[in-house]
Amino acid sequence: MSATNVIKSLTASDIRGMKGDTPIVCLTAYTTPVAEIADTACDLILVGDSVGMVLHGLPSTLGVTMDMMVMHAKAVARGTKRALIVVDMPFGSYEQSPEQAFENASRLMVETGCGAVKLEGGVDMAPTIAFLVKRGIPVMAHIGLTPQAVNTFGGYKVQGRGDDGDRLMADARAVDEAGAFSVVIEKVPASLGDKITAEISIPTVGIGAGAGCDGQVLVVDDMMGMFTNFKPKFVKRYATVRAEGERAVAEYAEEVRARTFPGPEHTFADEVKK
Ligand code: KIV
Repeated sequence: MSATNVIKSLTASDIRGMKGDTPIVCLTAYTTPVAEIADTACDLILVGDSVGMVLHGLPSTLGVTMDMMVMHAKAVARGTKRALIVVDMPFGSYEQSPEQAFENASRLMVETGCGAVKLEGGVDMAPTIAFLVKRGIPVMAHIGLTPQAVNTFGGYKVQGRGDDGDRLMADARAVDEAGAFSVVIEKVPASLGDKITAEISIPTVGIGAGAGCDGQVLVVDDMMGMFTNFKPKFVKRYATVRAEGERAVAEYAEEVRARTFPGPEHTFADEVKK
């Protein structure tokens, strides 16, 4: 490969530099093949702690561990050439102290080769974000509906309506000032997404935060139509993978029962033909 066609991975500062310029395209991924697909068109691949619900059938993200994040992030790294890989810090891995956050964030960076970590929280987490950034760890913040706080919120509810918008604006300003390179804003009114995007200096990446954010992120299994019983308002299905998978399994079962699979083309002869 000549030096001119070596693929350069995007960095946190490249993503930071896209503010107000090119929309930032992000998806989650948890495995090598899905990372390969996402990497063909995404700027940022998030190894989200949504992995617990999406791939492991957990009822929330709270049961996700550091070991799970390390394993999935390594798999994603094997399938990614260009996109920035951001890995979620799971519940309980950063809230206790900035030192605890550094220990776990540095493990994610060293063991997986990711380019940044993401953690949930605004004003309360700003000192931790500053601590990590000063020590060489790029941080993406996450405000609005932060799923690790589902028990405090009493469900996956829209945040920031009415006067509550001031709280989220304060969160956005705090993570910007703390040195985060971007911020995910989840499930807030579109008008608030617009306001925060206009106000802060770092890119906003929305999920259910309207079209005015600097970028968008979706959970890949949601947008590919892997689930039929789960479709939040902010998800658009771009494929029907579940339906196609069910069709394929039904056809396979029918052919096995009818003994039409395997056919001669899938079967080995006793001798190799010359
Ligand atoms: O875990 C995740 O997938 C996320 C996205 C929903 C932003 O945090």
